[in-house]
Amino acid sequence: MTRIAHISDLHFGRVDERAVAALADDLRTLAPDLVVVSGDLTQRARRTQFREARAFLDSLERPLLVVPGNHDVPWHILPGRFLGPHGRFLRMISPDLGPIHRSGGLIVAGLPTSRAAVAHWNWSLGRVSTSGAKRVAEAFRLHAGAGPRILVTHHPLVPVSGWKDRHVAFNAKRALAILGRARVDLLLAGHVHLSQSASVVLPGGDPGGWHCVTAQAASAVSTRLRGEPNGYNLIDIEGAAMVVQTRVWEPDGVDFREGDTNHFKRGAEGWR
Ligand SMILES: [Fe+2]
Ligand SMILES: [Fe+2]
Repeated sequence: MTRIAHISDLHFGRVDERAVAALADDLRTLAPDLVVVSGDLTQRARRTQFREARAFLDSLERPLLVVPGNHDVPWHILPGRFLGPHGRFLRMISPDLGPIHRSGGLIVAGLPTSRAAVAHWNWSLGRVSTSGAKRVAEAFRLHAGAGPRILVTHHPLVPVSGWKDRHVAFNAKRALAILGRARVDLLLAGHVHLSQSASVVLPGGDPGGWHCVTAQAASAVSTRLRGEPNGYNLIDIEGAAMVVQTRVWEPDGVDFREGDTNHFKRGAEGWR
């Protein structure tokens, strides 16, 4: 069995320290094979906030795969935003904006969707590049393992039910067609601070399309909540079975506890 913890939107600089301690405890107890962090590690991309995020990640002592979020791009230092939007993230969190993790049969790829600017008044929106999607699809194709193929982005690539404008990263439709043909098994994302998992059909090469699982994570430890408690996703995959459990923390509680759990099975057309 492969166990992945999917945490997101930590927003160091605006965290509940009790949630931070509870999350570290929960992850140490559940001992995932990999901790995926889908962006917004900081609130304002300040050095002190990156330092706090780095210390937290180090304290977990687990393999990590991290992508940046829009809050990890410094908006308050305009030259920095455009000259090196991910400079601090690259120096202090991860030296690679498109990391790939392989272990056993598993392959997990990250793609950055946060940008210095996008063609929209709201620069917090994201964009996924066609070249990045092709690079991930090629990595999936070359991967010899029979295990799951997983993509991590900060901004969702498929609409999140209940999110106000159902916005997805720009160019998502094109990227999803490429990833559908590459038979991606699982899409992990954050940004909207809501948790949910579902089977979605991607436009792939097959007549019926390819069904993959999409999982959104709530904000793991920040006080920037949108009507949902802090939480993260615990994902167990064994052969053709996948379980996505939401782990939830309430301010009046001590430990993270089990929340909604969804079960998926893989068949000829993908995951349902
Ligand atoms: Fe966020
Ligand atoms: Fe975000």
